[in-house]
Amino acid sequence: MSKIHAAITAVNGYVPDYILTNAELESMVDTNDEWITSRTGIKERRILKGEGLATSDMAVPAVKGLLEKRGIGADELELIIFCTSTPDMLFPATANILADKIGAVNAWGYDLQAACSGFLFGITTGAQFIESGRHKKVLVVGGDKMSSVINYTDRSTCIIFGDGCGAVLLEPNEEGLGLIDSILKTDGSGSPYLNIKGGGSLHPATHETVDLGYHYAFQEGKTVFKFAVTNMANVAAEIMERNELTASDIAWLVPHQANKRIIDATAERMGISQEKVMINIQRYGNTTSGTIPLCLWEWEKQLKKGDKLILAAFGGGFTWGSIYLTWAY
Ligand SMILES: CC(C)(COP(=O)(O)OP(=O)(O)OC[C@H]1O[C@@H](n2cnc3c(N)ncnc32)[C@H](O)[C@@H]1OP(=O)(O)O)[C@@H](O)C(=O)NCCC(=O)NCCS
Repeated sequence: MSKIHAAITAVNGYVPDYILTNAELESMVDTNDEWITSRTGIKERRILKGEGLATSDMAVPAVKGLLEKRGIGADELELIIFCTSTPDMLFPATANILADKIGAVNAWGYDLQAACSGFLFGITTGAQFIESGRHKKVLVVGGDKMSSVINYTDRSTCIIFGDGCGAVLLEPNEEGLGLIDSILKTDGSGSPYLNIKGGGSLHPATHETVDLGYHYAFQEGKTVFKFAVTNMANVAAEIMERNELTASDIAWLVPHQANKRIIDATAERMGISQEKVMINIQRYGNTTSGTIPLCLWEWEKQLKKGDKLILAAFGGGFTWGSIYLTWAY
């Protein structure tokens, strides 16, 4: 019997309606459209507005749409891996909350936190359950309500992030299609440069931590940029080399959408031309765990069975990695 691969068999996404434009940011902090566009490539991002709405509320429409597309019920899901850095609460896991909201009564689940690399870590982890034969339907969700952890008076972070959520279904494939290889890395020495300090066991929430702004995302942009641009490009090149792929073999590069300049550098290092790079950063900004599934969702109609895709990401931790997969439908 041929090896079982874990293949993506459905994808869907959700972004909130509210559009936060560069023009609106100009009225909030000392910035301008020209600076944001030239340094990041971002023109606008989506924000989840409304009382009582959290990350799981973006996952619900994304996953309901996915199940409808695939023609299965929520009760058929066996495992839910929810990749997020902005869970609804510290616990219970957002995977549990989502399971309840969609009626996934037969699934177990957990959250996976690897910042902007979360979705790559999530599908690699989910694939193990398929490849081992343990499960046949694994849902991997990547979503973040970044607006819940952004200080909208800090121009170094508020221009970058947005809210959004995507999801894929992993199922067994015996035609050799699906996840072929992945390289994932972590380096905790990067934690001082990109983090949310408050609310954990090191700095539990107090009046003081709130006064210090520890509940907001902090980023030392220049340092993160240097690590991101080198490591994301290196790991993408490494996975190509290890799988003897040339640029002409690759149908699509699906990069994490953190900064257009990092995406361009990665594509250049791989020798991939712009037409083969999924880029929607101009409309959504950085949605953290959401960027890669949102790209797959938006490009789904252009994907063909057998297409070779390289996914690549870099994020807080530091975490980074690359996945080589073939599209299965
Ligand atoms: C955040 C980022 C866009 C900032 O761009 P940068 O080119 O590094 O900009 P710098 O922080 O060096 O700032 C350059 C100048 O612009 C100013 N500036 C910073 N933010 C600004 C803003 N929003 N609008 C206008 N000016 C701004 C700075 O004050 C600085 O001014 P100075 O030269 O007078 O001191 C960039 O560093 C970045 O993308 N970092 C990595 C993000 C990332 O990949 N994250 C990892 C995954 S989540």
